Amino acid sequence: MGTMETDHPFVGSDFTDDDFTAIGTILATAGGVAIEHYNAACIKRRIAARIRDLKLSGAQPYLSLLRADAVEVHRLSALLSLHVSTFYRDPPTFAALRQILCEGALPQRWWSAGCAGGEEPYTLALLAAQTPQLCGKVEILASDVSPEILDKARRGAVTAPRLSNVSAEEQARCFNAAGPGFQIREELRRTVHFFQHDLLSAAPYPAVDLILCRYVLMYFNATDQEKVLGRFAAALPAGGILVLGRTETLRDSAGFFAPINVQERIYQRI
Ligand SMILES: C[S@@+](CC[C@H](N)C(=O)[O-])C[C@H]1O[C@@H](n2cnc3c(N)ncnc32)[C@H](O)[C@@H]1O
Repeated sequence: MGTMETDHPFVGSDFTDDDFTAIGTILATAGGVAIEHYNAACIKRRIAARIRDLKLSGAQPYLSLLRADAVEVHRLSALLSLHVSTFYRDPPTFAALRQILCEGALPQRWWSAGCAGGEEPYTLALLAAQTPQLCGKVEILASDVSPEILDKARRGAVTAPRLSNVSAEEQARCFNAAGPGFQIREELRRTVHFFQHDLLSAAPYPAVDLILCRYVLMYFNATDQEKVLGRFAAALPAGGILVLGRTETLRDSAGFFAPINVQERIYQRI
């Protein structure tokens, strides 16, 4: 096993194509993340960070480790599946969205695509329950590619840091204390329907009126981002709404959508 050379720690751009492909094959064979669909620079950066954490000198010793140790393959797969989220992530986005939804006359079937631990769809549930114009009129779907994170989402258990954007009053009204953390109340939990769905697979996309797909596309390569955006356009009716993460853009799919609030990445299907 190599040791890290202090003058040149291994970084993402040090990967040879062969080594990167070999890691991809090991992960795919073990049923892990299919890295060829993801932004290569971003994936390489994260694998390089793992190599440095293990104090290895580079890709070759790490490949030897992956070939010998199924646990490390599992660990790497989990590390590459980023499930970071919070309730009301980017609060101004949800404030703008609430206003748009109240003004619109859409039937209300909403989809949080790439929902991680449920923070985003449960935020939608809180928003609907606490907005008289929306209360009781909304169906919320939530999907993720990861069955493990969906199990967690269904339980509705949350740790305090994920609630940093939730006021104490809303916390008391909508969550129960559970062990060291909290659990979203049963009646709110029941309003979200979770299902496993891979945006990059051929599985059909549900027909919905609003799609939130935030901080998911940024992990895909440009071709797959375009494909997914085209499928979102097909899943939405004219007037339907799409919300992306603040670091994400419509790329070449801009022709399908009119901007409603560019800063908050809220768009309307034309
Ligand atoms: C950073 S989280 C974003 C969570 C939430 N949308 C938010 O903005 O806080 C990205 C989520 O996308 C999911 N994801 C990654 N690839 C996916 C795919 N191909 N299909 C569906 N979900 C995917 C990951 O499992 C992860 O839970």
